Amino acid sequence: MSEALTILSPVKLGPYELPNRLAMAPLTRCRASSDGIPNELMVEYYRQRADAGLIISEATPVSPQGKGYPYTPGIYNDAQIQGWQAITSAVHEKGGRIFLQLWHVGRISHPLLQPEGALPVAPSALKPAGQVLTEQGMRDFVTPRALELAEIPMVVEQYRHAADCARQAGFDGVEIHGANGYLLDQFLRDGTNRRTDTYGGSIANRARLLFEVIEAVSSVWGSDKVGVRLSPLQPFNDIRESDPKATFGYVVEQLNRFNLAYLHITEMGKEMPGAAGPAFNIEDLRQLYHGTYITNAGYTAETATAAIAENRADLIAFGKLFIANPDLPERFARNAPLNEPDASTFYQGGAQGYIDYPALAD
Ligand SMILES: Cc1cc2nc3c(=O)[nH]c(=O)nc-3n(C[C@H](O)[C@H](O)[C@H](O)COP(=O)(O)O)c2cc1C
Repeated sequence: MSEALTILSPVKLGPYELPNRLAMAPLTRCRASSDGIPNELMVEYYRQRADAGLIISEATPVSPQGKGYPYTPGIYNDAQIQGWQAITSAVHEKGGRIFLQLWHVGRISHPLLQPEGALPVAPSALKPAGQVLTEQGMRDFVTPRALELAEIPMVVEQYRHAADCARQAGFDGVEIHGANGYLLDQFLRDGTNRRTDTYGGSIANRARLLFEVIEAVSSVWGSDKVGVRLSPLQPFNDIRESDPKATFGYVVEQLNRFNLAYLHITEMGKEMPGAAGPAFNIEDLRQLYHGTYITNAGYTAETATAAIAENRADLIAFGKLFIANPDLPERFARNAPLNEPDASTFYQGGAQGYIDYPALAD
């Protein structure tokens, strides 16, 4: 009998052989310059975490229009490509692999964060509840502008262009951010998508933009270096949906067509059943998907080991544990105690709470 797999067993992901099954989850840390250029601090942060089987970068706007938070790095111009090159080189020198998370926030933005003070764009002109952080402080969300049908190919082109920039920057692949209430998720959900054209109404229509983005990004990378992240239970960013089970059942089954590097499902929202729409058993999605499957949210060494042994996922993505433990695989291997993450420094800028969490040897 073969031995049970553990979180430290090697795994294949697209063309890559990963030494372990820990993915570093995408984590926005707001340490770039105000025009979205990655810097030395970010090089050191990612270098420290290069022992992850796979690093997924922080969400990275594909265009100025895709931006929704100050000090997030972009991936659409030469200076940003150069900044990221230093990061991918540092990760590769330590033997790691890094995918870039491609991000368009849609309505989760504000004119203060948009080029020429424009309105944010969305599937429909529906204002999210709540507030947004700008460089001038907190502001109420505004009512976004619904994208014209003729503009949608330009949005797809933003993703294609950014995917090409990510290739020039030396990444190993890209993850399309289809989660957490941002543009692609806004299209998927009937609470935020009230369109009556070919991008709204039926589930197939609401999923059309996601699939077009996958095609465009795959034309640059090959689909086996492209991952997709979804968050079926997540109410964050004022997301609601009348039938998430049907929507995500359809989307996940269709994703089998693309021969992706992986599907990444975050279970965020599981602890508040019904918050984003009628509850369903998210573990069913594992059965529907035939490729490499990453799961996430709240996993520990123990629960991750059980999930891998029971074949509920191929990899586990860790967010807060990777923020606080740069050498997380090593700590799991040695069953060593973990540093506690400090939430007050998640987004505050600077080195503190970013590159000063000690590794075991320290
Ligand atoms: C500080 C912080 C920033 C995050 N930024 C992103 C992001 O950029 N993209 C994304 O898809 N999810 C983001 N998330 C969600 C995480 O990827 C992850 O799903 C979440 O932290 C739950 O996993 P965990 O319990 O292992 O931390 C973020 C979470 C935190 C705490």
